[in-house]
Amino acid sequence: MNTTPFLCIFDTTLRDGEQSPGASMNCAEKLAIAHMLEKLRVDVIEAGFAASSADDCASIKAVAEQITDSRVCSLARALPADIDRAAQVLAPAIERGNARIHTFIATSPVHMERKLQMSPETVLERAVAAVRRARSLCDDVEFSCEDASRSERDFLCRIIEAAIEAGATTINLPDTVGYAEPAEFGALVGDLLAAVPNAQRAVFSVHCHNDLGLAVANSLAALGAGARQVECTINGIGERAGNASLEEVVMAVATRSDRFAFQSRIEQRHLVPISRLVSETTGFYVQPNKAIVGRNAFAHEAGIHQDGVIKHRSTYEIMEAEAVGWFSNQLVLGKHSGRAALRRRLEDLGLCCEEQQFNDVFARFKELAAHQHEVFDEDLPALIGVLSQEGELGSALYSLSSLSYHSQPDGGARAEVVVQIDGEERRAEGSGTGPVDAAFSALAMVTDSAASLLHYSLNAAPHGSAAARGRAAVRLAHNGHTANGTGTDADVVTASARAWLDAQCRLGRAARRHPQLDAI
Ligand code: KIV
Ligand code: ZN
Repeated sequence: MNTTPFLCIFDTTLRDGEQSPGASMNCAEKLAIAHMLEKLRVDVIEAGFAASSADDCASIKAVAEQITDSRVCSLARALPADIDRAAQVLAPAIERGNARIHTFIATSPVHMERKLQMSPETVLERAVAAVRRARSLCDDVEFSCEDASRSERDFLCRIIEAAIEAGATTINLPDTVGYAEPAEFGALVGDLLAAVPNAQRAVFSVHCHNDLGLAVANSLAALGAGARQVECTINGIGERAGNASLEEVVMAVATRSDRFAFQSRIEQRHLVPISRLVSETTGFYVQPNKAIVGRNAFAHEAGIHQDGVIKHRSTYEIMEAEAVGWFSNQLVLGKHSGRAALRRRLEDLGLCCEEQQFNDVFARFKELAAHQHEVFDEDLPALIGVLSQEGELGSALYSLSSLSYHSQPDGGARAEVVVQIDGEERRAEGSGTGPVDAAFSALAMVTDSAASLLHYSLNAAPHGSAAARGRAAVRLAHNGHTANGTGTDADVVTASARAWLDAQCRLGRAARRHPQLDAI
């Protein structure tokens, strides 16, 4: 019998990750990521916070209908209405037996006094009632003590014991504000496991934020102390400085199995593809030196290092790049590529689509391939993304028909854009300090947008100089909503214009969302 403990990987990219300012995703995008998370074989997918918006409800429902291998989870405050809403949207997964309701309430003095304005006794009663109600609707219930790392030990012991007694199967200890340090956080987990009389009846979990850059270190310390579930996100996205990064936790545990002896279901070869998918979907580029999934994570620059790796790989490499999904794509996509090659590549990248949609994607792929020598991975989410926006936004789809620009002798620039809106072509001119600025002002005019530009960046897509392409990212804000967009093209001004239009489409969607309820 295998007695190695099992490590449960709980992914919250679609819930906490989506709470990153500007990272909103539509239902089709969330579904694509959920399918990829299932391929990665995460144990739990937190698909959203049902009571926060109608969009979240729709996405969780879609994920619960289609995902069968991972558990599908919705967050819910410790309120009857929230729990009922979670159970409602999780219904297909509850029926199938792969659902989880995750309910939470804050337990730290500052949160109870200032935010909830409740006594500890009321908080405890609410927690017990919430867990009981959730358990009456679903067999798998997680209870989180929000701000656990700043909560009083005795109170944590009491509320955790009561939650387990009420039916919680997982107890989660969030370091909500990223304040803990590893030795202290490990000790908290170890002490609670020892002090809570019924602790053995639940799995202990941790959920660490990265405000001090310690989220992964704290999660690993907790594993060392007896936690058996880690909550994390792809690329570490999430509230403020983000959550523990899934790929870092998974690879730290796998690479240092001498220190962390766990069984896990994760298929590591999907880590790089899913990192790219999340990055392309949210517009949050991965820093080049990011562990595991950054483009320099396995690159050796110094002569001594290169020499060492050539002689023996293990001199400077502790993991194999191929094992986490680097260089898995040997298939070049171009104008001669057929449907099978495109479909295969889309599947590898987690960009599956229905037959009818695939026909449209293939037609657009052929158009693109006719213009450029090679179609790159970064181009593909945009092909699917345009179509999913089309489905979701209906008449609000913008597509850039043409862009021309020229620099002025006085140092400024002028641009003219033609954009398809509602099937009708509209044209506008703009001026600015340079061609990108001019293109943005023409686009604002043609789309009647009053959005302000919060962020703009331009990178070279990593394909060598002959096929150099610009990858632009734009973040726009309007009326309290923010949205990111991305665009790629051989012409950097066109890439930038595409990114602006993509952000403008998403902004329209964000504005229609219901504002997220203040979490109690
Ligand atoms: O950070 C946090 O405390 C959370 C909980 C709701 C789990 O995200
Ligand atoms: Zn969180």
